[in-house]
Amino acid sequence: RRYRVAVIPGDGIGREVVPEGLRCLRAAADLHGFELETAEFGFASAEYWVRHGEMLPPDWRDVLGGFDAIFFGAVGWPEVVPDHVSLWGSLLRFRRGFDQYVNLRPVRLLRGVRSPLRDREPGDIDFLVVRENTEGEYSSIGGRIFDGTDRETVLQETVMTRTGVDRVLRYAFELAAARPRRHLTWATKSNGISISMPYWDERAEAMARQYPQVAADKDHIDILTAKFVLRPDSYDVVVASNLFGDILSDLGPACAGTIGIAPSANINPDRTWPSLFEPVHGSAPDIAGRGIANPVGQIWSGAMMLEHLGETTAAAGIVAAIESVLDEQPGVLTPDLGGAGTTEGLGKAIATAIGAA
Ligand code: NAI
Ligand code: MG
Repeated sequence: RRYRVAVIPGDGIGREVVPEGLRCLRAAADLHGFELETAEFGFASAEYWVRHGEMLPPDWRDVLGGFDAIFFGAVGWPEVVPDHVSLWGSLLRFRRGFDQYVNLRPVRLLRGVRSPLRDREPGDIDFLVVRENTEGEYSSIGGRIFDGTDRETVLQETVMTRTGVDRVLRYAFELAAARPRRHLTWATKSNGISISMPYWDERAEAMARQYPQVAADKDHIDILTAKFVLRPDSYDVVVASNLFGDILSDLGPACAGTIGIAPSANINPDRTWPSLFEPVHGSAPDIAGRGIANPVGQIWSGAMMLEHLGETTAAAGIVAAIESVLDEQPGVLTPDLGGAGTTEGLGKAIATAIGAA
């Protein structure tokens, strides 16, 4: 088995955590007998933007389209390039151009990590957030009318297509059906948003009828956010539209400890294009260059990449290694986890634990 992976470190701590992600991927490859062929790219960074006035080369689809996966760090350096330019100019183009219609974020409280929620044990928080990643509230349809007058009016449309809604729901139901608890919750707001959200509910109910083995229910987004904090143990798979999923997929990882450990996957389940794996966090300019960023989000994202490539045993081995190091080696923890360790120290400890498995 041999996989070709495009590596894009991006900006800030992206460049510090990606090498640790690769270190752990290589340890897993050695142990499990597969090969990783990597090619590193400098675009999708502020430095590239300064030189070219664009975040990506014009032929980025051809350059990246043939890889089996993309391993991404973080993009953004607000002093140099405005955030909406760096994000819309890179990541959002990948998500849409490669039809990565599922954004998957596991939320799991690991042993050795303290949840900001009181009295929560590792088994209490273990669910998946599935966010619709290509349509919904994040459309560019709309505009301003009566600009600059008292009647100034601003509109922005939500777009839901049957194909777009059904495919993300199907992905979430399949995930739920394969998990022991077989429970799915869909986020809605059909009591307030009276056209698009009732449609979302209708499609979810139709999908639920196709999966009688999955216990499916809905929560309105307002109470859902409250319950993430108060009753995180009541969730297994949570599926949401683009905007609601965006919010839930930051809130969830926050409940499970530091943002530095949270992984994510932008998945094209049809496998017509490469999927992209990246930590939830950004480029963290406030700590960049100091060698203290937590590499776990990047390393765990690497595990999600291996899972997607079919290397499930290797993927599970990486997550187990992360958990054992966090739990048993307080000396290597980075400052966000309450330690005094370094990015490289924690990365090396996890790579060693993978090899020792
Ligand atoms: P951020 O995630 O970069 O940082 C938020 C806070 O968390 C900071 O205090 C940072 O030091 C801390 N933090 C983040 N990752 C950490 C890690 N691995 N270890 C220890 N501490 C960590 O979010 P922020 O500050 O809102 O954005 C900074 C830049 O990153 C902006 O340019 C933004 O647009 C970009 N960004 C990029 C994302 C991506 O590439 N997917 C996602 C989010 C933000
Ligand atoms: Mg977000």
